[in-house]
Parts: sequence; structure tokens; C-alpha cells
Amino acid sequence: MKIENIDALEDIDSFDEFDEQRAKRPLQTAFDSVMDRALSRRDMMGAALTFSVSTFLTSAAFPAAALAAPVSEDVFGFDNVAANSLDTVTVPEGYRWQVVTKWGDPLFSTAPEFNEASLGDAASQLQAVGDNNDGMSLFEVEGHTLLVVNNEYINRRIFYGNRHKGRPETADDIAKGKAAHGITIAELTFAGGREDGEWQLLKDSPYNRRITADTEMELSGPAAGHPLLQTEADPAGVSVLGTINNCGNGETPWGTYLACEENFNGYFSSSDEELELPEEFVRYGVGHKDFGYDWASHDERFDIARHPNEPNRFGYVVEIDPGDASKMPKKRTALGRFKHENAAVVLAKDDRVVVYMGDDERGEFLYRYVSHDPYVVGAPTSKLLNNGTLYAAKFYDNLKGAWLPLTPETTGMSPAEICIHTRLAASKVGATTMDRPEWVAAHPARAELYCALTNNKNRGVKPNAGGDETPAAGPNPREKNVYGQILRWLPDKGDHGASGFHWGLFALAGNPKLHKGAKAGSSNINTANMFNAPDGLAFDQMGRLWIQTDGKYSDKGDFEGMGNNQMLVGDPASGDIRRFLVGPKECEVTGLCWAPDRRTMFVGIQHPGEKGNSSFPLGGGHVPRSTVIAIRREDGEKIG
Ligand code: FEO
Ligand code: CA
Ligand code: CA
Repeated sequence: MKIENIDALEDIDSFDEFDEQRAKRPLQTAFDSVMDRALSRRDMMGAALTFSVSTFLTSAAFPAAALAAPVSEDVFGFDNVAANSLDTVTVPEGYRWQVVTKWGDPLFSTAPEFNEASLGDAASQLQAVGDNNDGMSLFEVEGHTLLVVNNEYINRRIFYGNRHKGRPETADDIAKGKAAHGITIAELTFAGGREDGEWQLLKDSPYNRRITADTEMELSGPAAGHPLLQTEADPAGVSVLGTINNCGNGETPWGTYLACEENFNGYFSSSDEELELPEEFVRYGVGHKDFGYDWASHDERFDIARHPNEPNRFGYVVEIDPGDASKMPKKRTALGRFKHENAAVVLAKDDRVVVYMGDDERGEFLYRYVSHDPYVVGAPTSKLLNNGTLYAAKFYDNLKGAWLPLTPETTGMSPAEICIHTRLAASKVGATTMDRPEWVAAHPARAELYCALTNNKNRGVKPNAGGDETPAAGPNPREKNVYGQILRWLPDKGDHGASGFHWGLFALAGNPKLHKGAKAGSSNINTANMFNAPDGLAFDQMGRLWIQTDGKYSDKGDFEGMGNNQMLVGDPASGDIRRFLVGPKECEVTGLCWAPDRRTMFVGIQHPGEKGNSSFPLGGGHVPRSTVIAIRREDGEKIG
């Protein structure tokens, strides 16, 4: 497909696809490696699955007592929900859900209610919940319950549904778009009893605020001040306006929120069609055309012909103090620059801070950051995400793996360059190209990590954007991987600071109704629980893995019988997976967190009706709106 104009973006399935249409990649031709891949795939799948049911099941070294007790003998505590294509949320019997916030809900009583005809303007959007909620956390700050939620992007056809072909037309339209990005912080209150109580947004809370694509933030860490971060507006290279495309999230032990910038490249374009693109731009998908947001036409800093360093100031993890608006958000360059999915923060045995992070693009890498200094409760934390070492993951066919340090010695790049052009550094050390690493989740009671590898139709077909080969092997065993898989690994000696690990696959998604062999998926996938494109992952305190999907919802072809996007629960011990929730039409289910008493789970329903076929959550032909819902058990018992 040839992309001729921005409308074409609506017809393709992912931002990866758009990047590839703009920058064609060479076909892989080495016949030998094709043969090797075919052989190693069989071996690896067998070995990996054996590993997943033996090593993990027999390990007795883990302190199970640290986990909360399950509410029932059955670790799941609910019956599998059947797949469906309804325009609503479906949860198991014995559970109920309610809307908590949705795009455009005012945070202040001075702001207007959402207007379905005008769809708001920049002024109203600045005082309202942003669009496309994604990763989120709940914080308790001085007795107040704060929901902090990423607003990843906008769906033009809905967001500008009052404009011709859903295109922004005025400067205010663009400003409204920028105001709908970033992060929403909103105080929530709970009213009623355990069995009938409901959550709602507390208007006018002093904690309510928006962080947008224009909010001032600090560039910190090794890349701060580097010439590649310097611009006309910021000659020192230490201050940037805004955060964009915040996908997954993270939380630090010291109570801050991490928002992860993902497809930042899609906001930049060039007024000079002939502009030559440096290798680094090509690797990061920064090109002549944006994804259709059209920001450069009203804010020249998104024009790479005029401000070529501006894209270098995006693609980071941003640390935010949820309860203190006077503290400026900080982009933590030490955590690297790539299409960040989320940030899973844990402590090594010596209390150094370890952050696991995926780079969500076909054939990109899985990363780990280890701080130089340990986290000490009560001691200053401002440098813990500035001084440390980045590593990229290497997976070996013997089910072992290694974290390869990205240093001046291993890459020939300066510390600042490693932070800015992290992908190039990881290519230099020969890290393993992955099937789009999405969220990483850390088990709450032991050193055991999971990562959703959502899919990769290029696996075994062509290299990544940097030319690194993508053989079907190791944790990415299937060519033209349409379904995705969930990887897990155990750090050596149970220590997140160790340089090695053992890996296995928790699940290979597939369709056993249609296929035999690799496309049927692993043995824990059946016709009742099958899904595609695992994306969001999080553990509850009972040690159960919650799995959210951002996949094909056609319910046809390879995806027949899977219905809408959904949320499932995996049991790390048995490998069993059960479907808990089905989302409304054309949504993605992404983002989850729990109330402190674990009796409520908050779940994100992103972009319902992205192709025009939903009116969730209000129904009845109303404008579809991304929504945060709350789920509780009808008996008020714990849900995680
Ligand atoms: Fe925003 Fe990789 O999902
Ligand atoms: Ca995601
Ligand atoms: Ca996604």
C-alpha cells in the first residue's frame, strides 16, 4: 500500500506499518539463515515450552507467603468469559463494572461539560481528561486517592469528527490535539458500601491537573545539555516542552510516576520534502510526513527542516511527582531513547534500582537499566534514574540469556549518545531483535519477569529498521508472527542486578480452532481462551498475571473466535489462562491498577470505535470515548 496522504493512516493497523510504508526495508535474502531458522524454531519451541512447565513449576525457592491469599480455592475465582463482539464491557458473573472517567470529562467546575457537537476546543480540553487513556497508576497522597493516567494519542476521525474528513483545520484544533495528549491527574472518591459503592472523579480537587504536549519539563541525565538536544528555543539543551504518545507506565518505590514516550516520531514532519534524513532519523522513523496530527503547520518545533534536534528531545521516560505540581516533570535520558512501552521498576539484591523496558517496534530490543547507587528509604532519589547503566537483552538457544552493557567501551559511543541513539548502541552489541516488546511485568514476590511480545509480521522475513537480522529463533520462534507470545525470564540467583538469566515462554498465542502446529499456540491456549496480540501486563498481589490485548478484533480469518480485544488472567504456576473481560467494539484494553484495598481494579478501554463502529461508553449513538472503568466483585471481596 502506498501512503499518499494522511487519511491512509486510518486504514493501516499499526504505527509500525506507517513507518515501514515511509521507509522501505530491504528483503532478507540469505537462504542459509532461512534453513537455520526453520530448524531452530522446532527445537526452540519444544525446549522453551518444556522449560515453562518444569523449571517454573518445581522451584520452591520463592517466598509464597509474601503473596496475598486468593479469594477462592480456584486461583482465578471466576468462570471464563466467552469471546464476543458486543459494544460493551463483559465481565464474569459476580463482578460489576462502572465508568470512572472518560475523554473530555471536566476536571474543574469552571470547565464546560463535554460537547458532542463541537467536541470541545483547546481551552476546554486543557481542563479536561485527555484522550486515549493508556498506562495508569493510583497513588495515595495525604489521604487523597489520585489516578494518574497516560493520554497516549488521539483518533483523528473521532477527535476532529466535526471537521471535514477528521482533519484539524485551525490553530485551535491543533492546540486542542496537543492538550489531549500527555497525562491526566485526577482525584477519585469512593461513595457507598462495599457491595454497591462507586468511584467518581472529584472535580476541583487541588490535585487535579493536566500535563500536555506543551508542559515545560526538564531534560536530565547523561544526555542533558548535549549538542544533539540543543535547539533555538533551548540553546542549553536542558528544557523541553511537553511529553507525547505516553503509552505504558511505571511506578518507583519512592512514589513517583513514570510515563513512557512511545511513537513520538509520528508528530514530526518536514516542510522541505527534499530534506535528507540522517541514519538516526531513519532508525527512529522520523521522516518527512507525520502520522496526520499536523502539528508542524502550527508549531514549527515539530518541523524537522527547521528544528532538526527537536525529535531528539522525545522518546524518553518521564518522571512525575503525582502529588506535587510544583515539581517539574523530568525526562530521564539515562533510561534510553526508543519507543518506550512501559517501565517495570524493581530493586536488585543490593537495592540498586532496576528498570525493565521494551522498545515496541518490529525487531527492536528489550532493555534494562541498573542504577549506580542503591535506593535508601528516606534518602534523596533525584539521581537514581540519572546515574546508571543501560543493557540490552541477548537470548541464547540454550535458554540462557545475558544483559549486554551499553557503554563507551562496548559501543564506541559517548554516554550521551548511548542515551539519545540507544537503538544504534544496542545494535552494535548484537542484542536480540524481538517481536515488538510491549509491557514488562515483575512478579510481586520473586525475581521473575514477563514481557508481552505482541506480534511481528516481519519475523524471519526482513531485518529491523537498522538492518539487524530477525531470524525465527529463541523467544521469537515463529516466522511472520501474527499472534504474539509472552516471554518470561528468571534473573540468575534471583537477583535483578545479575548479568545473566534463564528464559522461557509462558504462552504462544494462536488459534487452535483453525491451526495445528506453531500457529495453534502453546498447550495453555485453547478455543475458549484464545487471543491475539498480548500488550498490557501486570501482576496483582495474589501473583496472578493480567494480560491485556491490542490485537485484531475482526473475529475473522486467523482471528476467528477471538472477538473483541480483552483481558485475561494467567497463573504462573500452572500456566493456565482464563479470559476475564471482553472490551467494546474496536477498542484496545490497556492500563490497569488497583485501589489500595485491592477491592477495585481500574482498567483502561482505549479508542472504542476507532473505525467508527462504537458508541461506548454512553451507547445510543453517542460519541465513542476512551474510558477508565472500575471493576469490583459484587460481594465486595478482593479482586487482586
Ligand atoms: Fe502504545 Fe506498544 O503500545
Ligand atoms: Ca501498548
Ligand atoms: Ca498498543
